[in-house]
Amino acid sequence: MNEALSILARRMVPADPQAARASLTLQDPIGVSIQDPLIPSASRPAPQVPRTSETVNVHIQKAMIPQRAAAAVPDAPFHVTAESFSIFYGSSQAVKSVSLGFRAAQVTAIIGPSGCGKSTLLRAINRMNDLIPGCRTAGRLLLDGEEVYGPQVDVTTLRRRVGMVFQKPNPFPKSVFDNVAYGPRIHGTGSQRQLAEIVERSLRKAALWDEVKDRLAQNALGLSGGQQQRLCIARAIAVDPEILLMDEPTSALDPQATSRIEDLMGELRGNYTVIVVTHNMQQAARVSDYTAFLYEGELIEYGVTRDIFTNPQQKRTEEYITGRFG
Ligand SMILES: Nc1ncnc2c1ncn2[C@@H]1O[C@H](COP(=O)(O)OP(=O)(O)OP(=O)(O)O)[C@@H](O)[C@H]1O
Ligand SMILES: [Mg+2]
Repeated sequence: MNEALSILARRMVPADPQAARASLTLQDPIGVSIQDPLIPSASRPAPQVPRTSETVNVHIQKAMIPQRAAAAVPDAPFHVTAESFSIFYGSSQAVKSVSLGFRAAQVTAIIGPSGCGKSTLLRAINRMNDLIPGCRTAGRLLLDGEEVYGPQVDVTTLRRRVGMVFQKPNPFPKSVFDNVAYGPRIHGTGSQRQLAEIVERSLRKAALWDEVKDRLAQNALGLSGGQQQRLCIARAIAVDPEILLMDEPTSALDPQATSRIEDLMGELRGNYTVIVVTHNMQQAARVSDYTAFLYEGELIEYGVTRDIFTNPQQKRTEEYITGRFG
């Protein structure tokens, strides 16, 4: 197996079942209780970086040469901005004074080894961390210039503006229709005709309509994993968010379903600010315009995806994207 393939093989290891067990009930963006199987236990060991003094040559696989970065809009305004932003779990600091802007209507990938704070940072953007006892923040996190953690912020409204899709598809045990209509109903859309329009529009945007239009009344749990994940994206879109947070949205899916979701991210870009956490370097290269590399809670490097993948400025970025650790 050549080096590129072995890197790929290592990155395709399935999710840690122990981490999957360490689940926590959270409020989802539309105000219902859901499981986030992504939240790892606090005892997860810190990543080990192999010590080496040799010069590391960047050896980028062809598949990792970004396709979409040519379209990155360098002067797109910042939709979400972190300013010296830190997140603590009790006395342990998971995110360390990160300063970073997520550009509007662009796809930004957050990459970095396990335990480096990617999910923690992502969950801060719609305050999903609020429900974790002992979790607190310092510094500033701004959404359109307004403090996300400001005293006046209505968290339900915030979560309507900032939708979230988790690693493991988590449809409600309801019909396909009711899953997508759930948020709009909560937010007061009563008319059946309006709901039907929203459901169809959301399912179309999530590239699922053709597959489910004849089974809207069937239980969503009967859909395939890839369909369930697109349904969860449709459910997130149905409340018309501005931002979509995606935490390893394809790591539980097969390559074909992954490819559908990646295409979808490309289509959503332009209408939504998409922030996606991924362990898959090819995916980051394929789908994102911008990439942020975190390591042990710190932002090591941020930039246009093409630059990060072809000409990283930091040695640790180079080592990580070439598969030398993580
Ligand atoms: N609920 C929690 N309580 C205490 N510590 C936590 C909690 N969730 C995460 N942590 C700790 O915060 C740090 C960052 O975790 P986080 O889940 O953000 O990492 P990650 O980069 O998303 O990792 P992975 O790639 O494995 O998902 C880790 O040290 C982790 O153990
Ligand atoms: Mg994570």
